[in-house]
Amino acid sequence: MSELISIDVQNAGTAYHRPAPADRERVDYRALAREVDPVGRGKRYLIKTYGCQMNEHDSEIMAGMLEEMGFRPASSEEEADLILFNTCAVRENAEEKVFGEIGRLKPLKLRHPELILGLCGCMAQEESVRAFVRDKFPYIDVVFGTHNLHRLPELVVQAAESRETVFEVWDRPGRMVENLPKLRKSGVKAWVNIQYGCNKYCTYCIVPFTRGRERSRLPEDVVEEVRQLAREGFKEVTLLGQNVNDYGLDLGTVDFADLLRAVNEVPGIERIRFTTSNPWNFTDKLIDVIAGGEKICEHIHLPVQSGNNRILKRMNRGYTREAYLELVHKIRERIPGVSLTTDIIVGFPGETEEQFLDTLDLVRQVEFDNAFTFLYSPRKGTAAARMKDDTPAEEKKDRLRRLMEVQYEISRRHNERMVGQVVEVLVEGESKTNPDVLAGRTRTNKLVLLRGPKELAGRLVPVRITEAQTWLLRGEPAPVLEGVSP
Ligand code: 5AD
Ligand code: SF4
Repeated sequence: MSELISIDVQNAGTAYHRPAPADRERVDYRALAREVDPVGRGKRYLIKTYGCQMNEHDSEIMAGMLEEMGFRPASSEEEADLILFNTCAVRENAEEKVFGEIGRLKPLKLRHPELILGLCGCMAQEESVRAFVRDKFPYIDVVFGTHNLHRLPELVVQAAESRETVFEVWDRPGRMVENLPKLRKSGVKAWVNIQYGCNKYCTYCIVPFTRGRERSRLPEDVVEEVRQLAREGFKEVTLLGQNVNDYGLDLGTVDFADLLRAVNEVPGIERIRFTTSNPWNFTDKLIDVIAGGEKICEHIHLPVQSGNNRILKRMNRGYTREAYLELVHKIRERIPGVSLTTDIIVGFPGETEEQFLDTLDLVRQVEFDNAFTFLYSPRKGTAAARMKDDTPAEEKKDRLRRLMEVQYEISRRHNERMVGQVVEVLVEGESKTNPDVLAGRTRTNKLVLLRGPKELAGRLVPVRITEAQTWLLRGEPAPVLEGVSP
């Protein structure tokens, strides 16, 4: 039975009602009844991506769809016939940056009215953003959200034909679309979606509103994608979800540990990573599978957000400081050499100096290999945005500075311990900053720069670490594999 997905129709330039297929339905992109319109033949596209790995991967999917339509990448904005902004809504400064960029492109659009400008991703899911676009950026040609990414080809055609902005944003997900084309940036490592959305409603976070509730891909679809990647020569996969430990809860027949085990069996894939795993639902079974799966890398990104119980409660994180520390202890005991990284928010509404000191203390106690630290940013519609917040901005910035100082010292110390060791590095290719240098990562996800022949790209190479900095290691290929540590 079909029903109508409510899409953004009020005040829309052009908007479309589309039938919403049943939730659990899964559809093959190639079987969607339409012919690929070669409208992109001879045309060039540019995608500007903001935010997380999920967005990076969505951009690879959009690039795949556009290339099927005949589009080719543009090397500059001037050369582009289509520019898409794949946006992030997690913090306000990311949104401001996008609006700034769109404003900057106005003269280009005026000079080339046939240029198609599109806004998609998490920001498009926010009604306030759509209203802002209508008001301030009427020259945007198309706006679509996270749930209807697969409709890009049709939307591009509609945008080219329409004189007004085409808005098509679904307020909840439709069918899960499989076999979307993907143009992956690297030939060595690949992202693989395993789950969409998030149910956790951490009080500061907009993601449950922009990405919808948790939905897991079928395990056979995930494994088949990984098999195909192996056939194409990829060596590493990163399984992606907002909350990977919850993978399979909605399917009822499989859990994340089972999926990891199945992916570990795929021949040709040498390394498996996953993100984001949260402190809840991190079962003993999962720890055992990570410990025992020879391809599963010894790196866990485990966002803690705060080291204070009162703040954790007000964040709705669902665990205590003690439970987090206990989990870290268990993981370290069972997975020797594991590297742990985290996310931390500083300046959550009402956070006191003492509560912040608990976070600093936890960071010193755990000694993360790296921490991504953020100043709290109020997001409209979230519960935290309605909480009283009287800490001066300067004080929050000072806390962030102190936290980063502590973490940098720990990161550097951990890296220095590796000097002289021989570690296994998966060489990814030339370094981004120097084509004479190769870049790769250890199993623990540390960046290593080394000199060597370009043919090492895509290979697992034993590397002796010769120098350590806060963010990276330098090394040289080592002749023997003996004593290689993760
Ligand atoms: N303000 C600051 N940081 C945030 N994050 C999520 N929402 C907010 C917000 N409103 C951070 C969390 C999360 C990471 C991806 O972004 O630390 O783990
Ligand atoms: Fe946001 Fe919390 Fe879900 Fe992560 S787990 S996406 S922080 S609501």
